[in-house]
Amino acid sequence: MDKSTYVLGISCFYHDASAALLKDGVIVAAAEEERFTRKKHDTSFPANAIKYCLKSQNIKINDLDYVGFYEKPFLKFERVLYQHLDSFPKSYKTFVSALPSWFNEKLRVTKIMKKKMKCKKPILFIEHHLAHAASSFLVSPFKEAAILTIDGVGEWTTTTYGFGKDKDITLLKEIRFPHSIGLLYSTITAYLGFSVNNSEYKVMGLSPYGNMNKKTNPYYRKLKKVMDVKDDGSYKLDMSYFVYHYYDRMPSKKLCVLLEGPISKRGEEMTQRHKDIAAALQMITEEIITKILNHVHNETKSKNIVIAGGVALNSVYNGKILKNTPFKKIWIQPNSSDGGTSIGVASYIYHTLLGNERNYVFNNAYLGPEFSTSDVKKFLEDSEIKYSEFKNEKELVKTTAKLISESNVIGWFQGRMEWGPRALGARSILSDPTNPKMQEVLNSKVKHREKFRPFAPVVCAEDAGKYFECDKPLPDPVDYMLMVYPIKKKWHSVIPAVTHVDGSGRLQTIKRNQNSLYYDLIKEFGKISGIPILINTSFNIRGEPIVCTPYDAYKCMMGTGIDYLIMDKFIIKREDNLKHAWDSEKYAKD
Ligand SMILES: [Fe+2]
Repeated sequence: MDKSTYVLGISCFYHDASAALLKDGVIVAAAEEERFTRKKHDTSFPANAIKYCLKSQNIKINDLDYVGFYEKPFLKFERVLYQHLDSFPKSYKTFVSALPSWFNEKLRVTKIMKKKMKCKKPILFIEHHLAHAASSFLVSPFKEAAILTIDGVGEWTTTTYGFGKDKDITLLKEIRFPHSIGLLYSTITAYLGFSVNNSEYKVMGLSPYGNMNKKTNPYYRKLKKVMDVKDDGSYKLDMSYFVYHYYDRMPSKKLCVLLEGPISKRGEEMTQRHKDIAAALQMITEEIITKILNHVHNETKSKNIVIAGGVALNSVYNGKILKNTPFKKIWIQPNSSDGGTSIGVASYIYHTLLGNERNYVFNNAYLGPEFSTSDVKKFLEDSEIKYSEFKNEKELVKTTAKLISESNVIGWFQGRMEWGPRALGARSILSDPTNPKMQEVLNSKVKHREKFRPFAPVVCAEDAGKYFECDKPLPDPVDYMLMVYPIKKKWHSVIPAVTHVDGSGRLQTIKRNQNSLYYDLIKEFGKISGIPILINTSFNIRGEPIVCTPYDAYKCMMGTGIDYLIMDKFIIKREDNLKHAWDSEKYAKD
């Protein structure tokens, strides 16, 4: 009989729904629901992700020892009630439209688990920011660390800090709703015409096109008016500039007057004013977090910092943390926003509540579904797809590197799917960063995305220092594309397709023990081109989740201009299968 302890963590009904499974404290499976349902940022109950986690270990739902949920729904509902009563009657419409989802699902997690999954186990609920803190600290390489969590909002909390020691977490202070850096960032995201809880990273990508000088960017001074920030980083927003606390829109009319224009329409051309606003927001966000981090360091005296919450995906700022603060080491879990809290609650139950020693450090993001060679072959045969089979890995690597060097766009589908929002070499689109036209090619052939958004480079860990001005030693979060660093000037013109307008790159580093095939491919491309770097972008069409199955990958290739799909040990050429072609451009969403 299996004496292992299994703990399942669940996150859903607000942002990206997910499930994660711990076996004796080790994360053995984790995935977001969107990958299975094909709805980007799917918030619904993660039945598919749960089934995947259980199947991966060959266990049944009632073999689980504990099940945990990433927040306390009744406490959150209390906040929603207060928030709407406070603004009544302005809030009436939003409140009434929100009620069914609370009564039908958000307050009925235990019942849904029982009904949909036939789960007889009780569910443990922990506070949202504790789940964030645990999702980072308890799987970090640190025995002790300062902790900072920042997001839009949990139950009441929007920002909190504290410290972790061994298996315990102590949160010391918090900032509460409606004051929130995350919601400020989302408000400006909405103001610039992008979708909230989805496109904040686009605003971050837009910011270097704006004026990054605090003295001469007029919107920096203006945006500073919407909040009061103290020296310790504690802050309050002036709520007259916002309406998110009672309305289904975020910026108020007063904010539009302040920023000298109406809310932008979806897809509107970004002018210099928009770019300067994005730059001002990024500068202010960085300024506040730096103040908070300096204060947290003073209070905790730790050399180590772990960060979680949606704001921890601000890779532009993450790359500056060790330079701007006294912290010496940093850790961020790749799925640092709400999707990652399923890991947090499961780890908190296993270590903090049950008292088990920590025996696991997160060092591998490949936690999702995988497909065997025979699964892939069966799919190809059943779908009457023309393909060839590589003799061995060496041939696969050599052929793929050559195809990339000849400016082909490659769909790369290998092993277990990545955990978190970034493709990390399991479900990636790869191409040549030395080709000055490649950004345009990728945009027109595959991604159909905004011109201002950069593509990201992947480099083997030991080569990073040659091309990037990165922290030394290289922090672990760089493995998960969580830090942006300046590219050394002499390489800007050599790798133009991954050099952003400000000379930076959001790099991913890879170690051979994490993904040997991917690592060998980068090295082989280096042998051919002299540059051991590839463009790595997520394997999806804009608006779709990253592909999960062989079918998703093939469908994506045939709807776009991806030239070859390298799937397991098979190579599939788009041109050989044109009978399955379709046009994804009309389908691309935000
Ligand atoms: Fe959150």
